[in-house]
Amino acid sequence: MQILGILQADSAKLALVLDMSIVDARFEVQLLMAQILQVNRAWLIAHDDEILSVSDFALYQQYLQRRLQGEPIAYIFGEKEFYGMTFKVTPDVLIPRPDTELLVELALLNIPEDKRLRVLDLGTGSGAIAISIANARPLTQVVAVDKSPAAIAVAQTNAALLGVINIDFVVSDWWQQLPEGNKFDLIVSNPPYIVENDDHLKKLHFEPISALTAGVTGLDDLRLIIDSAAHFMTAGGHILLEHGYDQADVVQGLLTTAGFKNVKSERDLGGVERVTLGQVG
Ligand SMILES: C[S@@+](CC[C@H](N)C(=O)[O-])C[C@H]1O[C@@H](n2cnc3c(N)ncnc32)[C@H](O)[C@@H]1O
Repeated sequence: MQILGILQADSAKLALVLDMSIVDARFEVQLLMAQILQVNRAWLIAHDDEILSVSDFALYQQYLQRRLQGEPIAYIFGEKEFYGMTFKVTPDVLIPRPDTELLVELALLNIPEDKRLRVLDLGTGSGAIAISIANARPLTQVVAVDKSPAAIAVAQTNAALLGVINIDFVVSDWWQQLPEGNKFDLIVSNPPYIVENDDHLKKLHFEPISALTAGVTGLDDLRLIIDSAAHFMTAGGHILLEHGYDQADVVQGLLTTAGFKNVKSERDLGGVERVTLGQVG
């Protein structure tokens, strides 16, 4: 079959089944096809009169069926780009989101290139945040924590594939398995913060629920992190927390109550207060 005909028919099908715009659906089927042919979208558009081989069409159909079931493209391809690097992702880890790049950018603003700071990433998942920071600041020593051994295995693989060595991985339930006496100059976290039974979860059912929800208010994990953070931080150290679109005020309050100063929130590209920062008093 001709590429153009396949793309047109399947864009319409995907848009209908997943209730997305035809523009987004066309972009996605182009991505699936481009991945199989190992070309970019520009090539695909310029060569849409070509005929797909039987084996390529069969593989494309497999990918398309998975996407029609709602599986995210990142899981189908097994990878996701984040902060300029490609991360391996499996269903054991959350797919890193573009919004989370704000957390990395803000963290780097607080890590001078010539300083040997210690950085902690709580809930590292694929390792996207920890590895991006470690890669951009080779003098830092980063510790990446997750409760899920499977997630830690993915993060370790990513660090190895990307050649990032200034990072250690620890399986830990937040602070519990971190050795006593560990102190960090900067702590970052994108913890679970979605309210249990939130409607948005229906669209996220391929991703690990343990990476997404945090009790009936969505604040359980943020509270656990904030309550003990200062104990693990050096004087003047910074904490940066990603949270939900409507949680900035409450996270600011939690940090202030816990004794942090210079508490403020920063907006993501969509204008949403997405990351809240504080400094040990
Ligand atoms: C929202 S995901 C963030 C993943 C990654 N940092 C990112 O930004 O793409 C939250 C992560 O926290 C981890 N997590 C959940 N509960 C935890 C706990 N009690 N202790 C440590 N990690 C936990 C999950 O396994 C998951 O990898």
